Amino acid sequence: MERIILDVDTGLDDAVALFLAAGLEEISIEAVIATAGNVGLVKTVENTLNILETAGIRCPVYKGADKPLVRKPVEAGDFHGESGLDGPVFAPRTFQKVREEDGIEALIRLVKANPHQITIVSVGPLTDLALALSREPSVASLCKQIVIMGGSFSRGNVTESAEFNTYADPEAAAQVFSSGAKLVLFPLDCTRLVTLSPARLADFRTRSGLSTSVFSSCMDTYTANYTKRGQGEPQMHDPLCVAYLVDPSKVEAEYCTVYVDTCEGPTYGKTTKTPTSSEGGVLVAKRIDIPWFWTLVDRALANLP
Ligand code: BDR
Ligand code: CA
Repeated sequence: MERIILDVDTGLDDAVALFLAAGLEEISIEAVIATAGNVGLVKTVENTLNILETAGIRCPVYKGADKPLVRKPVEAGDFHGESGLDGPVFAPRTFQKVREEDGIEALIRLVKANPHQITIVSVGPLTDLALALSREPSVASLCKQIVIMGGSFSRGNVTESAEFNTYADPEAAAQVFSSGAKLVLFPLDCTRLVTLSPARLADFRTRSGLSTSVFSSCMDTYTANYTKRGQGEPQMHDPLCVAYLVDPSKVEAEYCTVYVDTCEGPTYGKTTKTPTSSEGGVLVAKRIDIPWFWTLVDRALANLP
């Protein structure tokens, strides 16, 4: 059983990561922290609570950072809509609400109380993790591992060379990549290979269940936004980090040193990698077994209300 803290900027593909973690028997969600990213913090908190309530998950939800460490905030509403989760309509919540405790403090507390037990999955800007590592550097050695969606080693999706999560907080990403923690990275080069076809989405539409219906509405919007931007089928970035935890052997990866450009200019937020000869540095995903990934989504949604 993988015990995880999910750090999200919910987000349409973050919602899929939440559904996957919520519905798979191999995963236990210990806490979720919502951070600013795709949209502002108030909206990402609301979206996160709505998805977890839909999935019937009563885990604690905390607020993370409301802005990047240094740079001005950037958002990704073009892909996720004005709310960050355009599409589904949610009933009023009955049990999920945000906790009082600060999300960064909660992360530190949980990792310290459970040494080498907790995997952190970060699928938004890395601000919360960087703040946690600054406040309590032992988080790097006390967490089991950190699985991150971010970076690109070819072209970017927000500038020519930068991927959104690293571009949204390059200074935080640089800090996390050099922290010495056990890191696994799913960059765009891997995640853009996994897309949702119209036929698969139509098939989800034929199935019953509230979570499947919310998932399908999210994916309708995600599909429409990709189409509007002439970018083909929507890309399943964030859920790949959760899938990895179920069976790492389904992912082809290489150990690298990862560097983030923090010099303001055209390559701000760009990531570069140098393969390392031994098992050290960041394990960078190159490919995932795509049919297997979709079996996980099927299973998770079938397990949820
Ligand atoms: C990443 O950026 C966000 O818009 C997505 O949720 C994902 O985490 C992809 O570059
Ligand atoms: Ca995200």
